[in-house]
Amino acid sequence: MTLDRLFDSGATRPAKAQADRITIKRPDDWHVHLRDGDMLRSVLPFTAAQFARGIIMPNLVPPVTTSAMAAAYRERILAARPDGSDFTPLMTCYLTDTTSADDIERGYRDGIWVAAKLYPAGATTNAHFGVTSIAGLAPVLQRMEKIGMKLLVHGEATDPAVDIFDREADFMEKELLPLLKRHPGLKVVVEHATTAETLDIVRAHKDHAAATLTPHHLIINRTSIFQGGLRPHLYCLPVAKRERHRLALRAAATSGDPCFFIGTDTAPHTRSNKERECCSAGVFGGATALQTYVQVFDEEGALDRFEAFASLNGARFYGLPVNTGTITLQRRAGTMPPAVSVGDDEVVVFRGGETLPWSIEAVQP
Ligand code: NCD
Ligand code: ZN
Repeated sequence: MTLDRLFDSGATRPAKAQADRITIKRPDDWHVHLRDGDMLRSVLPFTAAQFARGIIMPNLVPPVTTSAMAAAYRERILAARPDGSDFTPLMTCYLTDTTSADDIERGYRDGIWVAAKLYPAGATTNAHFGVTSIAGLAPVLQRMEKIGMKLLVHGEATDPAVDIFDREADFMEKELLPLLKRHPGLKVVVEHATTAETLDIVRAHKDHAAATLTPHHLIINRTSIFQGGLRPHLYCLPVAKRERHRLALRAAATSGDPCFFIGTDTAPHTRSNKERECCSAGVFGGATALQTYVQVFDEEGALDRFEAFASLNGARFYGLPVNTGTITLQRRAGTMPPAVSVGDDEVVVFRGGETLPWSIEAVQP
């Protein structure tokens, strides 16, 4: 069963006529899990076909905690690119309780990483080496503030007593707001925002805060995960929330507001890891990301704002140049494969096999 039958997107068709074709500067993915080994080789071509650059998440096993590890991982990604691909990985450092401010600064000055990722310990996949006390990280955060290095935050509470649907809200109140106050010069990206309240907090701090929005959180709500039975391939963290939040995310993405930009959080897991007694968190959205985002902008009557969200806002926040090439998307029905093979297993593609109303027409590097 495909998602469009599962879930009516609920968008009212825009009154104004929308273009059937759109050419924008090449977009970047500001949040991507490429993994390593066979998985890296299987999923990277999809991200590289869509995006010029990617902020590479460091939650490998073991995590990317040193600049030497980041440099080596970067080389493995470059080596796994399809022939002719110019995809540029932008590396990140996985913060732990023992990360040193000097190491962070050295890796940044040497051009090895552009940002550091804060996972509250245990909050998500491979986050068990994450940070147990954000206050204890103050020397590192002060240094990042001083040198202009970005902090990327997985914003969910880790107290098992907090309801899973409230973990983002709890974190924002108890951890993010105090952090933004303590470090007014620190540039912070709230990754994969899923609630209306998080969006309000980001807007209120947009001089130094921004948020990435995933394709799947613009399409599914929490009911979708249980539609007709339990759907492990729609389970990710933060878990999708109520419909009012999905509508708020769509409004934020299509608003043109510079504090919101693409971050697919494409997070592949093998089918056997998804379809087991305890399913891993993560949706593999990398193969259908732009088709999904542009569909949302079309449905919301906001195609004229798609380039800002996809290709301008993130680069501006990161202080990086906008890409010179372009990509053309067209209103033409297309499909992506239901799954992609990885070794002798496979990864299920978000919206794979579904008829997608928009297709990628051409990439002009
Ligand atoms: C991500 C993963 O699998 O690495 N999973 C997810 O559900 N999004 C980790 C993360 O970004 O939370
Ligand atoms: Zn992620």
